[in-house]
This record gives sequence, C-alpha cells and structure tokens, in this order.
Amino acid sequence: MKSSIIAPSILSADFGKLNEEIASVDNHADLIHCDVMDGCFVPNITFGNEVIKNIKCSKPLDVHLMIARPEKHIEAFAKCNEMVEMISFHLEATRKAEEIIKEIRGFGLKAGIAIKPRTPAKKIFPFLKKIDFVLVMTVEPGFGGQKFIAKMIPKIEEIRKKAPEIDIEVDGGINEQTAPLAVKAGANILVSGSAIFAQKDREEAISRIKTAAEI
Ligand code: DX5
Ligand code: ZN
Repeated sequence: MKSSIIAPSILSADFGKLNEEIASVDNHADLIHCDVMDGCFVPNITFGNEVIKNIKCSKPLDVHLMIARPEKHIEAFAKCNEMVEMISFHLEATRKAEEIIKEIRGFGLKAGIAIKPRTPAKKIFPFLKKIDFVLVMTVEPGFGGQKFIAKMIPKIEEIRKKAPEIDIEVDGGINEQTAPLAVKAGANILVSGSAIFAQKDREEAISRIKTAAEI
C-alpha cells in the first residue's frame, strides 16, 4: 500500500490572516491544499493566483482548480509561487484534458484530474497512465464542512484496482472517522479542511487524523 500523507485545505482558514493560519499547520502538514473557486464551475468564489503568490509555507502547494475552462489559467497558477508542486483541474470543466496535463507537466509539476461525486470512475481510466494523481471528490465541490459521501468508497477502490501505483487524493468531509475508510479503499493523499481549521490546536487535529488513518 502507498504511504499516506495529509493536506490541510486552507478553504476553512481565516483569509484575513492567511499566512498566520498556514503557519499553524505547516509543521505537521505534508502539503498545503489550495481550493480555487470561480463562482461559475462551482457556486462559491475563493481566491486566485494573486493570493497564492503571497503564501508563505515550507510544504509544497497543492492547487485544486474548481474553475471553468482551466486551460486558460494553467500558466498563471504554475508560475505564481515556487512552492506550487501539484495542480489538479476538473474533468467536467474542460474538453482539453490532454493538453492541460501536458502543460502542467511541461512546467515540471505534477498533474492531477479531479472528478465530482457523480462522475463515474471509468471516465478517468483513459487518463490514468498520463497523470500523476486523481482527486476523488467525496463531497460536491464548492464548500467546506460537508458530510463525506460514503458511496465514493467503491469508486476509490475501482481506481486503485486499475492503477495500483497512482496517487489518489480524497477531498471532502475527511476527519478522524472517514480518513481510515478512504485509506482502506486505496486513497493516499487526505485533504482535510474544517476538521483541522475548526480546532484550536491544528497540529493535534492533524495528528489525530494521522493516527486514526494509521499514517
Ligand atoms: C471542497 C474543497 C475541499 C474542502 C474540504 O470543494 O475542494 O478541499 O476544503 O473541506 P472539508 O474538509 O471541510 O470538507
Ligand atoms: Zn479541494
């Protein structure tokens, strides 16, 4: 089994003091997950490359693009901060997945495809050999603090069976209870927003999720 890592999502952080908030998770995190929302592909709006540019952290940035026509913005996100290491975009948001993957990799970054809960696993199969990771949404994208959709477990298992070596990131409703279920199904990158940022002691919250998932 691939070893698992944890990526706190700054969606649940206080954007008014973002670098302070990031500092509170930086030591214990493996990646910092940045949720970019455009109010079009998803109903909510968060932040873009100009905000990511000013992020200070010691861990790689994992940029999750929940935007329409991501092909128009890859370069801006790839170049905005030298800590950006991974970029994922939604399969449902573009017809240019192949080109986008090539572009992300051309910048020396890891390319991932994200799929919404209603998108079946088989839609990602043609891309599995061409990408570095799959992001399986375990809630409807757009908001933090939603309940983990347990029906996504078989989908994670299906992808893991098809691609034993790929990184599978799960995003949405991950906490001490759900992290072990996702890892058991084959996920190895755990995104968690509210379960970490809602706690006073964020490092302890991360440790508790890691312990529960036996990371
Ligand atoms: C949802 C985002 C997630 C979100 C997860 O659209 O992609 O990254 O921040 O937040 P929680 O862990 O609160 O579900
Ligand atoms: Zn996300």
